[in-house]
Amino acid sequence: MSISNIKLDVNFVRSQFPTFKDPTAKKWSFMENAGGSYVPQTVIDRLNKFMISTKVQPYADYPMSKIAGEEMNRSISYFASMINAKENEILIGGSTSVNLYVLSNALKKFIKPGDEIIVTNQDHEANISPWRRLTECGAKIKEWKINKNTGELEIETLEKIISKKTRILAVTHCSNIVGSVNNLKKITNLAHNYGAIVIGDGVSYAPHGFPNVKELGVDFYTFSLYKTYGPHLGLLFGKEKILKKLPNQNHEFLDGQYPYTINPGGPNHEESAALVGIYEYLQSLYKHHFKDTNITILNKITKLNNLFSNHEEDLANPLLEYISSNKYLRLIGKDKIYNKNRAPTIAFVSKYKSSKEISDYLIKNNIATRNDNFYAWRCLNALGINSEDGVIRISLVHYNKISEVNKLIQIIDKIKWN
Ligand SMILES: Cc1ncc(COP(=O)(O)O)c(C=O)c1O
Repeated sequence: MSISNIKLDVNFVRSQFPTFKDPTAKKWSFMENAGGSYVPQTVIDRLNKFMISTKVQPYADYPMSKIAGEEMNRSISYFASMINAKENEILIGGSTSVNLYVLSNALKKFIKPGDEIIVTNQDHEANISPWRRLTECGAKIKEWKINKNTGELEIETLEKIISKKTRILAVTHCSNIVGSVNNLKKITNLAHNYGAIVIGDGVSYAPHGFPNVKELGVDFYTFSLYKTYGPHLGLLFGKEKILKKLPNQNHEFLDGQYPYTINPGGPNHEESAALVGIYEYLQSLYKHHFKDTNITILNKITKLNNLFSNHEEDLANPLLEYISSNKYLRLIGKDKIYNKNRAPTIAFVSKYKSSKEISDYLIKNNIATRNDNFYAWRCLNALGINSEDGVIRISLVHYNKISEVNKLIQIIDKIKWN
């Protein structure tokens, strides 16, 4: 059977997440996944186990401590395999915002007056302000602006502003508002031709399938583990050859011991260990859907990614079609997902009602969502949308069901617009 013939068994998927049976949560259609996802039982079990059996300072020689350290290392090792990185290229921090701030502080050393940094106005603020702050080292900031009509970042616009003076290009892999997946590989190739370092924000991309960082070619890549079915942590990938050169921001005696030199301190131990549960969840999904177990972790991830994408296309396309054909609504971004060119992160507004009114109405009807600018206020400003009231954002992941989408469409369809 070819990959495309295999459909995601969404009932099996949901059976792995205890939240779907929880009395508070189970009556809700959860559509705010881009804010943070549910966690599978495997993650909860890992967290519990760590807290009960190994909640001691890791890496000593007595069993509880030894196991604690081994579990934390195992997380790094699995994530390295899943995103095609080396173990010493992975850093775990409190969040993507923290990771990017810490990274920008480390990269300061390489910025001198007259150097240029490119940020976009499509990104979440987490991948903008840490770079904009480098004006304090004399950097000049250039903004890669979206097309105001489509919300898209166009390569031709980047080509006009990039130069040999560009040191850093910070760009999102997928917008948390427009939903578009940017061609990070192409963007990175272009930036590398000018000698610039590329920082990719994968927060809105990774919940829909882990990236292959080697294939993308990016120098740094971040995503938030609490949006990829794990606890509240962020992962930062950095190319070894660059990490090596960064200044030590940790304790003095750790000098030279990258990647531990980047973060000023260690990560949350129990949550780091619980990341093994994400791998275990994906393993069990793989086993449920595919027979061939004799392949690499990376290949399994690729096959699962296709499974997720196909399911997410089936979920998102009817909703995109409905919103784009409803004359009272303005859809942001592409009106169809095709070949993973868009995430099922779907934002819209209406000039007939505020986003808050629409969101309140959806919540009354047990659709868990919200209106906001989702910290991409520059993007909303560029699109001419009030960034206080924001957009209504429906963000779906692979555990959502088509019946939930159909219900949402029916609910929106009942709104009296005037
Ligand atoms: C696209 C994007 N980038 C970055 C962030 C910041 O992530 P964190 O909450 O881990 O700091 C978010 C959070 O919503 C996001 O959506």
